[in-house]
Amino acid sequence: MSIDVYWCLLTHLISGYNAMTTNDRFYHIGFGRADLGATPPDIALLSGDPNRASMIAHTFLREMKTLSENRGLNSYMGVLPNGRPILSATSGMGAPSLSIVVNELVQVGIKVIIRIGTTGSIQDYIKAGSVVISHAALCRQGAANDIAPVEYPAVADPLLTVDLINAARELGVPYHMGITASVDTFYEGQERSESSANPSLMRRLQGITEEYRRMNILNYEMESGTLFKMGSVYGFAAGCVCGVIAQRTEAETVVYEQKTTAINHAIEIALLSASRYQL
Ligand code: URA
Repeated sequence: MSIDVYWCLLTHLISGYNAMTTNDRFYHIGFGRADLGATPPDIALLSGDPNRASMIAHTFLREMKTLSENRGLNSYMGVLPNGRPILSATSGMGAPSLSIVVNELVQVGIKVIIRIGTTGSIQDYIKAGSVVISHAALCRQGAANDIAPVEYPAVADPLLTVDLINAARELGVPYHMGITASVDTFYEGQERSESSANPSLMRRLQGITEEYRRMNILNYEMESGTLFKMGSVYGFAAGCVCGVIAQRTEAETVVYEQKTTAINHAIEIALLSASRYQL
């Protein structure tokens, strides 16, 4: 090997090493502490959908800056109208992706994470267009088992949850608070068979929605359980507000007419809470 090739390989290795160890720029989220400036945010709004993260940043944040759109994990930084610095970031779909993003957000200094998601109601009285604020999750997620034992409770930060509820009340948004079933799959795990490529559900999943309904579980979504366990294990405040876009006691499908209303309600609540929540 020539000395030039050797030198090139060595500098490449060293720069890669630095990127992982000095928090210059994290491999998945594509930014690091140095990108967050002199007054770095300690709070993040975390959407599953990169377009939602972008919309929130472009619509509601002042001094908005794109941090990264690496792998569709779009992250933006800006300030709320009251001057509080904040991130609007993307978790991606499901717990494995969320676990990576949250791990790296914590490493850049984030201490409060509010998930803004969408959800399917499994109670007749929870209608599409309203929101569910989760105080805990039934966590049926593989990724969470790498973080804590299956028995470890998946609970939201209580003070942040109360703040989300107060925000919903102040805004007059129709909300429900309770336990969420947080599962790994949108189709099989949420007992979808008519709208799925796989019509044959395993026996243990047949009737699970009705079982959960009778246990007063409110809704299905795919990220909060792992987020809550990470919050307790890592030591950050985690909250979750989801817009109801499916009414699973009636149908498997998304209620498109209510989707924008539901998501806007969840965003309004998260923004109001984020503007004033203190650690
Ligand atoms: N997200 C889910 O996980 N399930 C739904 O039914 C709707 C949104």
